Amino acid sequence: MKETEKIKKRYDRISKVYDWLEQPMEWMMFEKWRQEVSESLKGKVLEIGVGTGKNIPYYPEGAEVTAIDFSGKMLARAKKKAEKTGKTVELLHMDAQDMDFADNTFDVVFTTCVFCSVPDPVQGLKEIRRVLKPGGEAIMIEHVRSEKKILGKLMDLLNPIPRTIYGANINRRTVENVKKAGFTDVQVKNLTGDIVKKIRMKKS
Ligand SMILES: C[S@@+](CC[C@H](N)C(=O)[O-])C[C@H]1O[C@@H](n2cnc3c(N)ncnc32)[C@H](O)[C@@H]1O
Repeated sequence: MKETEKIKKRYDRISKVYDWLEQPMEWMMFEKWRQEVSESLKGKVLEIGVGTGKNIPYYPEGAEVTAIDFSGKMLARAKKKAEKTGKTVELLHMDAQDMDFADNTFDVVFTTCVFCSVPDPVQGLKEIRRVLKPGGEAIMIEHVRSEKKILGKLMDLLNPIPRTIYGANINRRTVENVKKAGFTDVQVKNLTGDIVKKIRMKKS
């Protein structure tokens, strides 16, 4: 898919400076949320869009974690982080829109800031549903388009900037996409205004 190749290349390109660019956001908010999510990781766990491995230091002991990313260069950095922290994780080069895992494989699937850039988000979310075991849970921390009138429109207007630099969209309606992908048991908590959300969905 042409679009997928384009976004993958953007993450390859940004990989060297990604941690540095994101650091202020880490200090302001993400560090504590990564820690909070890690408490729910039990059993067979899949992280989608592992990036440079920012969540790896928080993986709890005892969880059997597999992590994927479609950018080889982001993944290479995640590998270094895993080595440095001594965490055991199976890192795989894979597209979230078409995963190699069998149906009903994982107890927990989680993402942090990923579905802003998955080229076909509904397809990626359908894949999450497929690979989750019945009763399994997906946990996502994602930034989305504000539903406030002026802010939402501003996000639409500014979206081409991050999209061109990163491959990330700031105007995705991820909660809507989760429902389009077939999840019916969905809980949403606002973390920063209505822009950063914690979304939990169970596979029945
Ligand atoms: C904004 S970064 C977030 C990285 C990491 N989750 C974090 O919290 O720092 C988005 C990541 O998702 C990956 N990604 C986007 N679409 C993907 C897809 N279809 N399959 C696998 N990885 C994908 C990108 O390559 C990138 O590493």
